[in-house]
Amino acid sequence: MSVNRPAAVIVLAAGEGTRMKSKLPKMLHEIGGRSMLGHVLTGARELDPQHLVVVVGHGRDQIRSHLEEVAPEVTTAVQEEQNGTGHAVRMAVEDLAARGIELSGTVVLTCGDTPLLRGSTLVELVAAHEKEGNALTALSARVPDPHGYGRIVRDADGEFTGIVEHADATPEQHAIDEINSGMYAFDGALLAEVVQRLSTDNAKGEEYVTDAVALLRADGHRVGAWAADDWHEVQGVNNRVQLSEARRVLNDRLLAEHMLAGVTVVDPATTWVDVQTTIGRDVLLEPGTRLRGATTVGEDAVVGPRADLKDTVVGAGAEVRETTADGAEIGPGATVGPYTYLRPGTRLAERAKAGAFVEVKNSNVGTGSKIPHLTYVGDADIGVGSNIGCSSVFVNYDGVNKSRSVIGDHVRIGSDNTIVAPVHVGDGAYSGAGTVVRDDVPPGALAVSEGHRQRNVEGWTRRKRPGTPSAEAAEQADRHRADDKQ
Ligand code: UD1
Ligand code: CA
Repeated sequence: MSVNRPAAVIVLAAGEGTRMKSKLPKMLHEIGGRSMLGHVLTGARELDPQHLVVVVGHGRDQIRSHLEEVAPEVTTAVQEEQNGTGHAVRMAVEDLAARGIELSGTVVLTCGDTPLLRGSTLVELVAAHEKEGNALTALSARVPDPHGYGRIVRDADGEFTGIVEHADATPEQHAIDEINSGMYAFDGALLAEVVQRLSTDNAKGEEYVTDAVALLRADGHRVGAWAADDWHEVQGVNNRVQLSEARRVLNDRLLAEHMLAGVTVVDPATTWVDVQTTIGRDVLLEPGTRLRGATTVGEDAVVGPRADLKDTVVGAGAEVRETTADGAEIGPGATVGPYTYLRPGTRLAERAKAGAFVEVKNSNVGTGSKIPHLTYVGDADIGVGSNIGCSSVFVNYDGVNKSRSVIGDHVRIGSDNTIVAPVHVGDGAYSGAGTVVRDDVPPGALAVSEGHRQRNVEGWTRRKRPGTPSAEAAEQADRHRADDKQ
């Protein structure tokens, strides 16, 4: 479906959101890796409006800097005091007028706290609005619990006659389950005119945008209410319980899309994805998996159980179990985990391995190279086909400067090595167990640290730690040895 380019979309986001009990403005709380306001703007963009205006008040500095980041095309209009939704719209209209922008054509009004609204629903709303030639079309929905919402009032013929706020409604009107979502399509010119005529004669003493319905109707204009199919879409978030509910609905929606596109999700209840996440076909997501930000998972990969990947690329056919990764690249066919931590700048090439209790940071691990167990690799470049022995540490930090270590191709670093950067280990070199590699190793050489050859100081514990359990155990062992000799 396509509709004419609306003159503007106006997003109301000036309210305080007190019930969130938060330092962060309500609209900036996140679900699915995007702020609630970001979700609303993403939906609004599907209309390709000529102007996208956000009305800001509370927390406006935070909201503005967020907008600069996620939606630089947006302009803001300030509502100093929150004198109602109608007043907020008036601030937007007056701001546009002050910039010489006349509203001709359709103007869409939305709220910043309805993150589940789909852009396609706004497109359908505008299509219905234009088809019927309305001055105003309210987006409504039938909801299980209408408490607190404005109600859609219809006459005996089912004609939409007005919106009554919960606080102003009669007991009969409280029984109406068709609610006003707070989103509308307007004729722009009529909107600009009617917002100048809203009264404050109501329970809250505010300018209600909902009063535009009765005013426009009284002037002989057509008004309509168009009901959304999925009431979840119009659900506003006012507190953190509703925030978690919206998060769940969004996640279910995203997972359903992935599953229908060929991804196996073993346990949707414990699998969480963000809106930007992409997942290839025949990927298997095991329970307890969280894919955040711009994470990309290639075809046939297995992720989880229990993986938390942020802004990470997983190559086709890779296996990533019990892993935390942030800003890492995992090559095709690579294996990671269990209990592995990949930090920013980690690049594992094709078929590389980072195994159990391995931490890697800002390092390149070449094709087929393996770091199988209990090892820290920081600021290193490891070539192809190399193996880093168990329990090795790349000492990259001297307390002041960080330096890089370079390990060539087909190198065999022994177990429990300490690689002290900056250092270069040549292609095909070996190192013995427990080596402290301080100096460059030529290609094909064996590095051993002779200075660390083991020396046993007999009777040391008895002399230096007398009376301790260790000394007693040593003495007992000595007595046994003496008895055995007799
Ligand atoms: C409004 C509607 C109600 C509808 C409900 C849907 C009116 C009078 N009532 O009620 O019919 O069912 O939304 O959620 O419009 N805002 C401002 N400035 C203000 C007041 C509000 O920017 O001065 C913004 C808020 O930040 C929020 C939105 O407008 O994004 C809705 O405001 P809210 O106070 O939640 O409206 P309701 O009273 O719930
Ligand atoms: Ca060690």
